[in-house]
Amino acid sequence: MKLNSFDYKKRNMKIWNEVAPRYHKRWATATYGPFQSTKKLVEHVNVQKGFNVLDVACGTGVVTKRLSQKVGKFGHVIAADTSVTAIKIAKKYNKENSNISFVNSDAENFSFNQKFDAITCQYALFFFPNAVKALKNMKKNLKKSGKLGISVHGHRDNVPFFGAIYDAVTQFIPDYIPRGTPDLDRFGTKKSLRNEVKKSGFSNISIHEYVFKYSPGKFDDYWTNYIKYVAKPIKEKLSTLDRSQRKELRDMVKENTKPFTNRNGVIHFPWEVLILTAKN
Ligand SMILES: C[S@@+](CC[C@H](N)C(=O)[O-])C[C@H]1O[C@@H](n2cnc3c(N)ncnc32)[C@H](O)[C@@H]1O
Repeated sequence: MKLNSFDYKKRNMKIWNEVAPRYHKRWATATYGPFQSTKKLVEHVNVQKGFNVLDVACGTGVVTKRLSQKVGKFGHVIAADTSVTAIKIAKKYNKENSNISFVNSDAENFSFNQKFDAITCQYALFFFPNAVKALKNMKKNLKKSGKLGISVHGHRDNVPFFGAIYDAVTQFIPDYIPRGTPDLDRFGTKKSLRNEVKKSGFSNISIHEYVFKYSPGKFDDYWTNYIKYVAKPIKEKLSTLDRSQRKELRDMVKENTKPFTNRNGVIHFPWEVLILTAKN
């Protein structure tokens, strides 16, 4: 069965409602590894005191928090996401900051009766089935002088944290990522990201490439944590493998991590992140 975009979004919403607490704790609030991007994104967008900013797919509110500190008490941040659980966490995480409003809203369909000085969207563009629709929506809500800032992960070849597992697991479970899911790697190169944003009508596009370092510990930690943190529908798929297939899969993933493993057995992955800025 192939998911249509409505069913994909429904499934994705359910997954984010499940994983948001773990995502917040393990990833979003970390200042090492890929989440060094949060600070960089807000710097690149050059957010000033008094700005009105929209944070699209705000998740648990890490970009939102930094934006709120930057705009100060005369500015305002609207943070939007489709996951009610993520918003709940974001509210709590930002409870000290009274210059934020949270909205439960789809990036492809939101509409505000104001225009923003800046719009940010971190690690979410690839989840939108119709990314051009979402980007055009952002453009419509951005002031003429406004700035857009988007962070995405690089292609999985340049993010072996994902690639090492994905490349192995899809050999055992071809529909590991269900059919109809947008290709989550499709904006993982400068060219493809630039094209999508250009197609949506933005100008002055520039892309900054970062390669952060991330160590998930030794292979056992990497594998155990992966299984522990993954969402239920994916866990269910892994549980369809029998014992020997599981072992084979694990060995294959281990092999994929070898180039990044030092002589003490600790993995150090590079993690490519692209941060795009553009003008309306
Ligand atoms: C990887 S998280 C990123 C969250 C946050 N921007 C950050 O940097 O931590 C992806 C977020 O995208 C949200 N999301 C996915 N599809 C969405 C859509 N169509 N509209 C709005 N939010 C969406 C998810 O609910 C999730 O909170």
